[in-house]
Amino acid sequence: MKYQNLLIDQENDIAIVTINRPNKLNALNKVTIEELHKALKKLDKDAETKVIILTGSGEKAFVAGADIAEFADFSVKKGKKLAAKGQEILFNFIENLSTPVIAAINGYALGGGLELAMACHFRIASDNAKMGLPEVSLGVIPGYGGTQRLPQLIGKGRAMELIMTAGMIDAKKAAAYGLVNHVVALEELMPTTKKIASRISNNSTVAINYAIKAVNAGFNNDVNGYTSEIEAFGTCFGTADFKEGTTAFLEKRKADFPGA
Ligand code: COA
Repeated sequence: MKYQNLLIDQENDIAIVTINRPNKLNALNKVTIEELHKALKKLDKDAETKVIILTGSGEKAFVAGADIAEFADFSVKKGKKLAAKGQEILFNFIENLSTPVIAAINGYALGGGLELAMACHFRIASDNAKMGLPEVSLGVIPGYGGTQRLPQLIGKGRAMELIMTAGMIDAKKAAAYGLVNHVVALEELMPTTKKIASRISNNSTVAINYAIKAVNAGFNNDVNGYTSEIEAFGTCFGTADFKEGTTAFLEKRKADFPGA
C-alpha cells in the first residue's frame, strides 16, 4: 500500500515505519494519524512482521508535534473529539498493539511527537534528540496521553516541571530520567534499534503479546495487574510456542517458534 506521509520498509521480520513530512518536521496531521493507524494495523496482522520500528524522516525531527495549523481554529467540541479520536486510533492503539513497537527518536520529539514515542513500548534516542511537551506555551495541554504517560515514565514531579515550563530536555537527560532506554550517535540509531529488534524477534511473539498485555494491565485502573499476569501466564501453557520453547531448551537447541 502507498501512503502519502509514511514510508514502510521491511527488513526480514522487522518493519520500519518512517513518518515522512520533513518540511513540517514530521508534524502529525490528520492524514498522518489515519495512515499510521492503517499501517500499524496491517503490520500487526502480518505474521512475517515481529517488531515495528517507528521513526521520523530527516536528521532534525522524530515528530515536532501535532500539526498546529490544523487545530488552531477548533471549538471546545472539536478539541475534545481531536484528542479522543487520536488517543483511540493511534496512541492507545500502539500501546496495546500485539507487536512490539520501538520508537527510534532521531531529533525533536515534541508535544504529540513525544506522546507518540511514549505510546511505543520503549524508546531509543540519538544524541541530538530533544524532548518536551510544550503545549502550555500554546494555551493548551497535552491531549494524546502525555499527562498520563510522562508521569508513568519519569515520575510526577519531573513530569509536572517539564509540562509547566514547556521546556525541552536533551537525550542524555531523557535517559537519566528513564524516558529513553539508550542514547547513541545519530548514525548508530537505526543499527542499534534494529539489533535490539532482532533480539526481540528471536523470542515467542505469542508470549511477547501476553507480556505487553500484562505490563499494560498494571497501568489500567479497571483491572488488577497481578490477576491479569496470572491469567496470561496460564494461557501461555496452552500455546504451541510454549511447547516449542520448553522442548527446545530441554533438547539443548535454539527454539523455532511457530508463533501460535
Ligand atoms: N505543527 C505544524 N507545523 C510545524 C510544527 C507543528 N507542530 N512544528 C514545526 N512545523 C513547521 C514549521 O511551521 C515550519 O514550516 P514552514 O517552513 O512552512 O514555515 C517547518 O515545520 C520547520 O519548522 P521551523 O520552526 O522553521 O524549524 P526550527 O528549526 O526553527 O524550529 C522547532 C524547530 C521544533 C523548535 C519549532 O518548529 C517548534 O517549536 N515547533 C512546534 C513545537 C510544538 O509546539 N509542538 C507541540 C504542538 S501541540
